[in-house]
Amino acid sequence: MGRVRILVAGGAGYIGSHTVLSLLEAGHQVVVADDFSNARPAVLDRLGELAGRPVPCVEVDLTDPGRTDAVVAEHRPEAVIHCAGLKAVGESTDAPLRYYRTNLDATFSLLEAMRRHGVDRFVFSSSATVYGDHAPVPYLETHTPLAAANPYGRTKVMIEQVLTDHAAATPGLRVALLRYFNPVGAHPSGRIGEDPQGVPTNLMPFVAQVAVGRRERLAVFGDDYDTPDGTCLRDYVHVVDLAEGHVAAVEHLDVQATPVRAFNLGGGRGTSVRELFDAFCAVVGRELPHEVVGRRSGDLPAYWADTTRAADELGWRARRSLEDMVADVWRWQSQNPDGYPA
Ligand code: WQD
Repeated sequence: MGRVRILVAGGAGYIGSHTVLSLLEAGHQVVVADDFSNARPAVLDRLGELAGRPVPCVEVDLTDPGRTDAVVAEHRPEAVIHCAGLKAVGESTDAPLRYYRTNLDATFSLLEAMRRHGVDRFVFSSSATVYGDHAPVPYLETHTPLAAANPYGRTKVMIEQVLTDHAAATPGLRVALLRYFNPVGAHPSGRIGEDPQGVPTNLMPFVAQVAVGRRERLAVFGDDYDTPDGTCLRDYVHVVDLAEGHVAAVEHLDVQATPVRAFNLGGGRGTSVRELFDAFCAVVGRELPHEVVGRRSGDLPAYWADTTRAADELGWRARRSLEDMVADVWRWQSQNPDGYPA
């Protein structure tokens, strides 16, 4: 696939912004579409700085089919990478209707606009959460049934099903479903990174905020699991590796044999809370305050990806180490203690 014009929905977000940069570095043209409900406009300034040129961006509510159609009609992308969506597990349990409406309607708007304007390449930001609580570890893309344990995860399962049915009825459409494991890290420049609004629910950004003094201490949610050090194991993957996985996936669509193909994007190994925490303390050069508390409901003891398919078919593997992840997060957070400017 040569130089392609790509619309990145959610391109001002954490995964989206890193994906935009990797696409530009690979020689593609990019337009960002974002409603800035969970991202700051300053992200686009940083992307322009890193890319050496302004990155075109359209502010749009993708749940509005008319506005979404107008954006696709104007920018005529040859491919769409869809990273726009609500993604907080706990919040989705408190506000399921908002999650179903936002995540599903944005997808419907994009697919209808793509059909109307002849766009037939689509990459979807899915999640390992689609494997639910009972899949054998390591997770295989062939696992069925998909059955997430929360409304957020169920929107991902539903959208994967919508895409499968729609692609079966749309000759020429090619779709890649990218099932992210635990994205962490930041661009090594320290100029873009994860900037969760409010109290972080995920481990890495919380530790980073402890390190810069925004949070008092890390609460370790249980150390009595049946794992080597008693804390949960997860498959952490550097966000730049993940971004490069999107480039590999969109470039592979032209030769993708089936209309829809799922790919695990993970490192293929489990890292414990304690290992990640200790690696962060090592890069900061001091023991960060923490305490072990009770387990968080819904947490699984351990899971990680089987990464064979992405390696064999996309030629993609996660290359960055845990030390790279924590060093890059620390550089981002220490240079931006309060995240992006308002
Ligand atoms: C990792 C480990 C916690 C915070 C979630 C979503 C998943 C995906 C990635 C979207 C667990 C422990 C955490 C803290 C802790 N998101 N922890 N103290 O739960 O594996 O995955 O984010 O797709 O869908 O479920 O990630 O970072 O929240 O937790 O001890 O303050 O860190 O118990 O073992 P998780 P996480």
